[in-house]
Amino acid sequence: MVDLATPTPVLAAGGIADGRGVAAALALGADGALVGTRFHATPEALLAPETARAIVAGRGEDTERNSVLDIARSSRWPAKYTARTLGHPYLDGWRGREDELAAAPHAQQAYQDAVVRGEIPALPQWASEAIDLINDLPSAADLVGTLAAQAEAALSRAGRR
Ligand SMILES: Cc1cc2nc3c(=O)[nH]c(=O)nc-3n(C[C@H](O)[C@H](O)[C@H](O)COP(=O)(O)O)c2cc1C
Repeated sequence: MVDLATPTPVLAAGGIADGRGVAAALALGADGALVGTRFHATPEALLAPETARAIVAGRGEDTERNSVLDIARSSRWPAKYTARTLGHPYLDGWRGREDELAAAPHAQQAYQDAVVRGEIPALPQWASEAIDLINDLPSAADLVGTLAAQAEAALSRAGRR
């Protein structure tokens, strides 16, 4: 990508959740890294605290690319861009039956009713496979410091070899 994009700056994105990932992106020629899900697990993130805790507790294999939850919640998000989310009862109930779900207003209403009753999260719990690297809920400022220190250590370790 960097070869193709030069001189446009490139940010690496996807699956980067610690300083080693940032270092790897820089070593490959990226100008920086866009870190998404890792910052979701900080107190500053604008998401339900139980979702932040679910990201910390979850494993990569608990995540799944799907459009089921967008259909269930009547989102106008284009179906061809699936989102990776943590597991969800609606996923288990409708996986592979997306067209049927889209044509079932009663199922979409049942989803909204379950949200109101607090039985399912108000929003899909978006999370990347990198959640295996996410084991704590640091402040965003501390996280930036940790990412930078880890990246620096990884780059200097590689430079010594
Ligand atoms: C708050 C938030 C909003 C996001 N919104 C979008 C979006 O609108 N479209 C999209 O394709 N991806 C979206 N993503 C997924 C990011 O593209 C993805 O998290 C990014 O590539 C970084 O990968 P990572 O989460 O593994 O660090 C979002 C991620 C987060 C954390």
